[in-house]
Amino acid sequence: MKDRFVQTCSAFALPALLCAAMLCSAGPAWSQNDAASLYKSKCAGCHAADGTASTPAGKSLKIRDLHSADVQKQTDAQLTDIITAGKSPMPAYKDKLTGDQIKQLVGYIRDMGKK
Ligand code: HEC
Repeated sequence: MKDRFVQTCSAFALPALLCAAMLCSAGPAWSQNDAASLYKSKCAGCHAADGTASTPAGKSLKIRDLHSADVQKQTDAQLTDIITAGKSPMPAYKDKLTGDQIKQLVGYIRDMGKK
C-alpha cells in the first residue's frame, strides 16, 4: 500500500515539477532564442554568426566587430537607427522587421559586448 502511494506520487509529481520548471524559464529563453535565430537568418551572412564579421562579405565590406568598443559605445537608439534605416551598404530593416524584433536584436548585440 505504501509502495503504491509512492509510485502514484512520483508519477504525478515529477512531470508536474518538470512542467513548472519549464514554465518558469520559458519567458527569457524564448526571446533569447528569437533574437538569436533572427540574427542568424538576417544578419549573420554579413556580420558572421558570432558578430565578428569574419565572413568573406564582412571582410570585404570592412564591417566592424559587433563586440568592439566602437560599436558598443553607441547608444541603443543609435544602434536601433542603423538597423532600422540601414547604413550603406547594409540594407534597411524597417520593412522587414518589427520595432520589437529590432529591439531584441539590439539586446542581442549588447549581450555580445558583455562576452
Ligand atoms: C549585406 C550585408 C549586411 C547585412 C545582411 C547586415 N548588415 Fe549590419 N552592417 C553591414 C555593413 C557593411 C555595416 C557597416 C556600415 C558602415 O559602417 O558604413 C553594418 C553595420 C552594422 C551596425 C553598426 C556597426 C558599427 O560599425 O557601428 C550594426 C549595429 C549592424 N550592422 C547590425 C545588423 C543587424 C542587426 C543585421 C540583421 C538584421 C544586419 N546588421 C545585417 C552589413 C550588413
